[in-house]
Amino acid sequence: MSAKIIDGVAIAKSVRAGIRDRAQKLQKETGVTPGLAVIIAGDNPASKVYVRNKVRACEDAGINSQTISFPGDVSEEELIAAVGKLNDDPAIHGILVQLPLPPHISVRHVLEAISVEKDVDGFHLYNVGGLVLGDTVFPPCTPYGVQKILEHEGIDVTGKNVTVVGASNIVGKPMALMLMQKEATVAICHAKTRDLTLYTILADILVVAAGHPNLIVPQMIRSGTVVIDVGINRLPDGSLVGDVDFEGVKEKAAAITPVPGGVGPMTVTMLLDNTVSAAERAAGRA
Ligand code: GUN
Repeated sequence: MSAKIIDGVAIAKSVRAGIRDRAQKLQKETGVTPGLAVIIAGDNPASKVYVRNKVRACEDAGINSQTISFPGDVSEEELIAAVGKLNDDPAIHGILVQLPLPPHISVRHVLEAISVEKDVDGFHLYNVGGLVLGDTVFPPCTPYGVQKILEHEGIDVTGKNVTVVGASNIVGKPMALMLMQKEATVAICHAKTRDLTLYTILADILVVAAGHPNLIVPQMIRSGTVVIDVGINRLPDGSLVGDVDFEGVKEKAAAITPVPGGVGPMTVTMLLDNTVSAAERAAGRA
């Protein structure tokens, strides 16, 4: 059996059309145009590409955006002051601080300075806490994108064994919480997990966000598993691959997301979704 290749680009396109409609409706009915501010510090090339993609996606969705760039030697106080100004700006509904930040800056201090109503990345402690309790918050964009992909493909997670490989604050941990909220049985594996296959072989759905090319090979999964590859790894030859041996695993899985063109386009899409939600809430429409 060869897996269905899940087309993240096509799903993102259809979800973005709905987001554009919501932005237009809000504009027409309240005069409010959703606004996103992105703060970037330093010149990490990957971060610059991500920020450019986010800004371009905003334009296409009818969301105003501004990018505020700081040099790598910016102080924590300056960054927090910039966040404070955006918190007070009624034209800005979402604030995103691109990570990683330069090492002398406390990520937590900067993220906690973001108003919880504008925390469209969902990284503020308040929103993380809301996720634990199953409250309505801004879900972090990458796991939210995975959730949308599963919904779009008609894959119900209720009662399923879902193994999440990778326990990062940005992907693995929030992903596990969101799946638990949907009543999946969740196992979380990480770099210290002794026998990874023990857990991956149990999975009806496997979500991999570990940052290791070829971590998941066909012998590690059952036939018919749904495989969601969140990894993005640049190989020495310049090519982009995920964490899963795509060519091997696709012969055994029921469905699989490719890299690129799987989860990636959905991450930015859900940032747009959260930004429009923030604007709707600010306008008393949600
Ligand atoms: N760096 C890598 N992923 C992300 C993300 O989802 N949000 C932010 N702000 N920075 C990132």
